[in-house]
Amino acid sequence: MTALSVSTSSAASLRADALVIGVAKGPKGIVPAPGAEAVNEAFEGKLAEVLTTLGATGAEGEAVKVPSPAGLKAALVLAVGLGEATEDGYGLEALRRAAGVAARTLAGTKKAALALPAESADEVEAVALGGLLGAYAFGTYKADGNGKEPVGELVVLAPRKGSKDAKAAVERAVAVGEEMNRARDLVNTAPNDLNPKSFAAIAQAAGKEHGLKVEVLDEKALTKGGFGGLLGVGGGSANPPRLVKVAYTHPKAKATLAFVGKGITYDSGGISLKPAGHNETMKCDMAGAAAVFAAVVAAKRLGLAVNVTAWLALAENMPSGTATRPGDVLRMYGGKTVEVLNTDAEGRLVLADAIVRAGEENPDVIVDVATLTGAMVMALGNRTFGVMSNNDELRETLHAIAGEAGEQSWPMPLPADLRKGMTESTIADLSNMGERMGGGLVAGLFLKEFVAEGTDWVHLDIAGPAFHEGAPFGYTPKGGTASAVRTLVRYAEQTAAAKA
Ligand code: BES
Ligand code: MN
Ligand code: ZN
Repeated sequence: MTALSVSTSSAASLRADALVIGVAKGPKGIVPAPGAEAVNEAFEGKLAEVLTTLGATGAEGEAVKVPSPAGLKAALVLAVGLGEATEDGYGLEALRRAAGVAARTLAGTKKAALALPAESADEVEAVALGGLLGAYAFGTYKADGNGKEPVGELVVLAPRKGSKDAKAAVERAVAVGEEMNRARDLVNTAPNDLNPKSFAAIAQAAGKEHGLKVEVLDEKALTKGGFGGLLGVGGGSANPPRLVKVAYTHPKAKATLAFVGKGITYDSGGISLKPAGHNETMKCDMAGAAAVFAAVVAAKRLGLAVNVTAWLALAENMPSGTATRPGDVLRMYGGKTVEVLNTDAEGRLVLADAIVRAGEENPDVIVDVATLTGAMVMALGNRTFGVMSNNDELRETLHAIAGEAGEQSWPMPLPADLRKGMTESTIADLSNMGERMGGGLVAGLFLKEFVAEGTDWVHLDIAGPAFHEGAPFGYTPKGGTASAVRTLVRYAEQTAAAKA
């Protein structure tokens, strides 16, 4: 894993294989960003000229390498684009992305110094987090470990004043970044290796390592407890379902948050089998569970003064002679009955059980995270998750927090008229299918049926951003992205601060 540290050394004097600077797009060409002063001096003030000759423009995503002139201890200068030049700073997401591009470009090198704009602690944290996320590589299955080794060491250069804050900022970035990379590993692990049982074992081991209380309900306990949703979805698989509770408590906590994650370790669709072309990436269907798990571990590592309980609803959705049939009726945890009309609408079934169970502990807020519907991907695309809630103010809060954390999201409604389609089962309380149009909202309305009266609840549909299939960009690699982790952590932080 890439080591991360902070240093107040000057950019010129730090020994490293590469020195990273930021450049922006000004009205009259390239503008070196704060942090690049020493490099510009070493180039006798001609840095912009040199970079322009090499084709650099300062655009976001750009990375241009130049051999160092005399006067710098690093052998190589790497200029990364920050986008449009501004008078008042570059925005934290631009810094995260630029640092991510740098870390990706420098895979294979031992040590790099990041001389990007880092005046404030927030900027230091953004540079550190972007670097750590950009350095991520998943090499578990490749003979050569995925080509180049990730950059070995990243040193964030920060000004001397406020260096204590800078150190804390880097520590924070390391906690969040490492947990996000853990979530990415879980998503990227092949589904023949990550099943409900092995996921639960990983949660137990990490719980032990970090001092979190972990409880696992196996298929026997689920049967005894009447968890019809989890058992119904997992019934077709040789790998039985699990419900995992991971609890973090703080002695001074004044609020308790319940984070519920969809953990379908593979979604074949079940008897309503997905056609070829729709199941190749369905190992990602546990990204919600990975996110809530990463968030609770991060909350513990950060020592937040709030209680956080993560609920991982784990099952494998497979077709077989023991699988749930379209037409079966499940008795869910808590007693409601559901006619399963399509076994591919399985996420809402496992989540319903977990939401009811989470609600029994009277949390202040329940936030569920799920790769729930293709309809949400149709609506919002591949980089934005949908935010739904039974409380308008809370929905706006989560949307705003996501933005502050650097995650794209958009508020979506839960229109009452779409509920009707799910209540037309002639034999059960509900069916797991409603109108086709607005399918992402229908799924949200189904979950809402399982939230106890008076409990605040938010639903994040991360089906789009959870798994990235295109070329890497910024700090986002191919595969698992750790979508929603930063939003959950920031929400926990804000809750702790508000109730302090
Ligand atoms: N896991 C899928 C949703 C999904 C789609 C996640 C694309 C990530 C990318 C979910 O279980 C599913 O199959 N949903 C169905 C629901 C339908 C049968 C009502 C869908 O969206 O088509
Ligand atoms: Mn499905
Ligand atoms: Zn699914």
